[in-house]
Amino acid sequence: MIDKTRIPAHVAIIMDGNGRWAKKRGLPRVAGHNAGMKTMKKIVDHSDKLGIQYLTVYAFSTENWKRSAVEVSGIFKLLVTYVNSELQELIDNNVKVKVLGDYSSIPSDAKKSLEKTLEQTKENTGLQFNIALNYGGRDEIRRAVCDIGRDIQQGLLKPEDITEELIGNHLFTGNLHADVPDPELVIRTSGELRLSNYLLWQTAYSELVFADVLWPDFTTEEYEKAICEYQSRDRRFGGR
Ligand code: FPP
Repeated sequence: MIDKTRIPAHVAIIMDGNGRWAKKRGLPRVAGHNAGMKTMKKIVDHSDKLGIQYLTVYAFSTENWKRSAVEVSGIFKLLVTYVNSELQELIDNNVKVKVLGDYSSIPSDAKKSLEKTLEQTKENTGLQFNIALNYGGRDEIRRAVCDIGRDIQQGLLKPEDITEELIGNHLFTGNLHADVPDPELVIRTSGELRLSNYLLWQTAYSELVFADVLWPDFTTEEYEKAICEYQSRDRRFGGR
């Protein structure tokens, strides 16, 4: 049973296994992403019910551009379908949508639908749902270093002013952008045991939970199991 008094504030998910789910059924990979989108909807809903304040999903990485054009355009079409069909429900449920990543280069229809969603949910005060899109942890740190370097060049900062907090503020999760605390819990489905360039700075002390099921098969029961696993961990943050 979940301890409702110790719900993590921020859960970050690597929704892995859509391709394998489709392959097992002899379906195209995009069918796996479509099934994955349905799971994502359920998990957004359930996060809200559990009182989670921030949910971040890895929807498209900086490396995912290497996939076939059919798969890449399929994922962005699903993004359009998702935001257009869910917008009213997101508004009704007081969900605020944010993007982590530079989405300026995504297909223009996806960009337009996404911007509408960001605009129409920006005043909401319930669950903050962050979609990591064209996101890479190393790319994010590179951009932060670049911004800070520019501030130093312009005389706005001195190198000794660089603190961990300052670096954090310049990340997509920082207070200059989506303003999200570090995730207490990271869940990866499909049995793969790695972070794959996800939230590298922010996961320094996150608890990692790996679920064996493929993302389209991930249920709210599996989700609660992962949260229970997190609650059973002894978090010491380097202390004793
Ligand atoms: C990883 O599985 C999944 C992705 C790279 C895409 C995730 C996309 C969705 C869940 C649906 C769309 C939702 C939005 C918001 C765009 P994989 O393809 O790497 O699976 P595999 O390892 O089995 O091949």
